[in-house]
Amino acid sequence: MATGEATGARETVTPDSIVIRLCHDLDEMRACVALQKEVWNFSDADLVPLRMFVVADKIGGQIIAAFDNGEVVGFGLSIPGYRDGRSYLHSHMLAVRQNYRNAGLGRRIKLLQRDDALARGFELIEWTFDPLEIKNGYLNIERLGAIARRYNINQYGITSSPLQGGLPTDRLVAEWWLKSKRVENILKANKSPFKPVKAISIPSQIYEWKATPSTRERAKEVQDRTRDEFLKAFADELAVLGYERDEKGSGKFLLGEWEER
Ligand SMILES: CC(C)(COP(=O)(O)OP(=O)(O)OC[C@H]1O[C@@H](n2cnc3c(N)ncnc32)[C@H](O)[C@@H]1OP(=O)(O)O)[C@@H](O)C(=O)NCCC(=O)NCCS
Repeated sequence: MATGEATGARETVTPDSIVIRLCHDLDEMRACVALQKEVWNFSDADLVPLRMFVVADKIGGQIIAAFDNGEVVGFGLSIPGYRDGRSYLHSHMLAVRQNYRNAGLGRRIKLLQRDDALARGFELIEWTFDPLEIKNGYLNIERLGAIARRYNINQYGITSSPLQGGLPTDRLVAEWWLKSKRVENILKANKSPFKPVKAISIPSQIYEWKATPSTRERAKEVQDRTRDEFLKAFADELAVLGYERDEKGSGKFLLGEWEER
């Protein structure tokens, strides 16, 4: 199978030269595990092992990888789930190698997850994400059209990943309703209008506050404040339907009524 044209060493990514496809091969999955270690810097105990990738592939999940000249530079891992009488896919991990980011690869991996899911009869893909990660919030809500109306407190306990900065692993649940008007509008026209009734802000300094032990308490305060705001809004049946970034790099979740379901 084609794995991309020869590109040689590169400073920037030419998105068209990257091949994105499903993986069933052990060595390719091994390369995904290695990339996982590189991106999250997990200890071995926190790493999702090769065996789990193999199982995911065998039981109706998805391993999708991005290849540059045969080398894995991004991947998505999904497993099948079941809730409220419905089968769905749970996308557990999405990763793109540092120097390949912001060239649309993450979004392309998600779009292939969607195509493959629809071809197999799924209407929903879910995943969880850290609401303090401004880029992920923007990609998930604004660029892919996921919504969020559930909040899990300290989902995995405290993990070894430096990305988490020792904070509780609070997560929003992204629901990607693959056939919804909202998703179709966003994928076609980059927008799906709604009336925002509440905003929840994440300051751009959150990354440096998390990274430095002396300021970690400030990051924790942001997490505590936003956790309360999300729980209250979701109890009032609001959903996250939009995400704004400002020129300083801060983010803002916009909430409103989700009318499609
Ligand atoms: C999350 C991740 C997979 C995204 O991959 P990617 O290839 O960079 O994603 P894309 O380029 O498709 O989309 C990123 C979008 O965020 C935007 N973005 C970049 N930096 C941003 C920031 N600081 N704040 C807000 N948006 C930002 C990009 O401009 C892009 O939007 P655009 O398409 O409108 O230009 C990648 O950053 C990564 O591997 N992160 C570490 C692991 C992780 O957090 N995984 C997700 C949780 S499991």
